[in-house]
Order: sequence, then C-alpha cells, then structure tokens
Amino acid sequence: MREGVVPLIGPKELSDLLEGPEPPLMLDVRSDAERRWAHLPDDRHVPIHLLPRETAGLPHDRPIVTYDHFGPDARRAAELLRSRGFDSAAALEGGIDEYARVVDPSLPRYPDGQAEGGLLLQQLPRPGTGCLAYFLGDPVAREAVLIDPGFDTGPYLDALRGGAWHLAAIVETHTHADHLAGHSALHLATDAPIYVSRRSPAQYPHRTLSEGEAIDFGSEELRILETPGHTLDHLTLRIRGSAFVGDTLLIGACGRTDLGDGSPEMLWDSLIGKLMCLPDEVEVYPAHFGPRHSLPTRYVSTIGFERATNEALNQPSREAFVRYMTEGWPPKPTDFEQIVRANLEG
Ligand SMILES: [Fe+2]
Repeated sequence: MREGVVPLIGPKELSDLLEGPEPPLMLDVRSDAERRWAHLPDDRHVPIHLLPRETAGLPHDRPIVTYDHFGPDARRAAELLRSRGFDSAAALEGGIDEYARVVDPSLPRYPDGQAEGGLLLQQLPRPGTGCLAYFLGDPVAREAVLIDPGFDTGPYLDALRGGAWHLAAIVETHTHADHLAGHSALHLATDAPIYVSRRSPAQYPHRTLSEGEAIDFGSEELRILETPGHTLDHLTLRIRGSAFVGDTLLIGACGRTDLGDGSPEMLWDSLIGKLMCLPDEVEVYPAHFGPRHSLPTRYVSTIGFERATNEALNQPSREAFVRYMTEGWPPKPTDFEQIVRANLEG
C-alpha cells in the first residue's frame, strides 16, 4: 500500500468535535495491553492487526478518528480506512498521549518504556541513520539484552549504569551493510557475549545461534528463528508477543537482498515460510524506519497488518517476488563493502 495523505486532527480540535452535534467515532487501534492503561470514552476498539478484516462493521455515515499511543499507527489505520471507502477517516495527531497532556490531564499516561507483565521493551531509534536498536530487560533480575546496537555506545552504557542493569547478551540480527555496529565496544565495556547466527562470518569473539535455540536473561527467553534472505546470516528473535525481525521484514517493505550474501528466493521462503506463520497479533519490531530508507516513520507493526498491506508480502508468487526484489532498486551505497568488512572485524 502506498503512503498517502491522511488528515490529522489535533487534540483541541478533536475535543471541540467530541462536544459538537456530530461527534466522530473514536477508533482505538492499539493492543489489548495498551488499552488497559487508558482509553477515550464511548470509543470502539479494533487492534490494528485485526483492522484489515474488520472494516465491514464500521459506519460509513459518521466520521471516524483513529487513535493510538503517539500517532503513527493511527495514521496507518486511517490510511487503510480511506483506501476502503471511509472517505472522512482521520487520525488523532500525537495520540492519546498528546490528548492527555493537552486536553484531559485526568487520563493516565503510559509509564516509561513499554512494561508488559514485567518485560521492559525500549526502542532506541537513531534518526540520523534510520536505524532501530532494542533494549529488553527483566526489571526484577536487572538482566538485559541489546539487539543491533549502534556504533555510539555511550547512551547504552549510561542507561545500563543508570539502571544498574547487567547486560546478559549483545545480539546482532545480521551483518549490517548500512551502518557501523557497536557490539565490540559494548563487549569490551561490559564483558557481555556477542551472539550472531551460526552462519555469520564474524571474525570477532562471538557465540553462535541456530534455529530453536534461546538466550536466557532473568526469567525471560529470547528464541531464535533463522530467516535468511536479506543476508544469509539473518536471525529473527522472538519473545512473548513480539518479533525482532531485523531487515527481513520492514514496515510496508522488506530489506534488499543485493548488499550481501542473501537472495530474493531465500527471503521469500523466510517471509512466507516463517514470519507469515506467526499469529496476526505478534508485534513486528524492524531494524529500520523512516525516510532515509524510504520507509514510513513508524516503529512497530503487527504480523496481521503487514500480511494485509505490505507490498512485498502481497506479490502473487515467488517468481513475482524475485522480480520485485531485483528491479527498480536504488544504486548500492558506495561504502557498503567497507561497512560490512568493519562490522565483521568488530
Ligand atoms: Fe541490513
């Protein structure tokens, strides 16, 4: 699905509309867990991963305003609705968080991070490169894992020290070709082991991971799926209802296959044979976002939403996907071979 223009409604404007003669239907597209923190009165709840198959029950004769925590999922949901004939669908700008801040301070705000039943999950975006790293922590055991850390390790080390966290593992989803990784510097500073795929040609000290294995930290378990294609050594990491998919699956797209030792055929098999076998509600955390990668400025999706809307996944056949992956891509970055070499040497 193409990115289109979605009307945004600010919190004050929405407040006026809700008190007016024809209030819009407020549609909460967040997960059940998020909804427990707070929601708007008299709204309707359809998690975004269910929305593609549940638009039939929504009214066409009343404006719909979608909302989420900060705004990006709501924009995506409103875009889907507009593409299906809900011409007056719009999104709440800034999400329920901004609404609570500006209009209704009595609404509870989310706590820091996304604490879900004890697991702390934090996205660590790097806007300059469009990369996303992830911090996972068991707050009781104070054990943590870092996934795909960037080269500037200062903020990670500050967070670890500030929270008295023990770093149990540094995990690379794959050999990166577009940014320098920070695994070796973090290892030197913390002594945490670096985990990579058994297929990685990494030359620095590391431990290897294979399909079905797991990394334990605190009372949590990060399980391994091998998803080659973007690169041969690509892993997807599963924990609870989340999947850290690296560049195998991006929001609305997938990672290119011509910067390493991957292939479109392998990628199709990983996408369809592995990731698309996960339940719709599994949250998808990719390694990239934003304009630098021609991606939407969204940080998280779900398997169900990507299954319904992702252009790469909706190619009609393996052959069509291979054509899609080999035609029309921008030129390779000039420095990617040096970056790969530096990341493999550590
Ligand atoms: Fe990559």
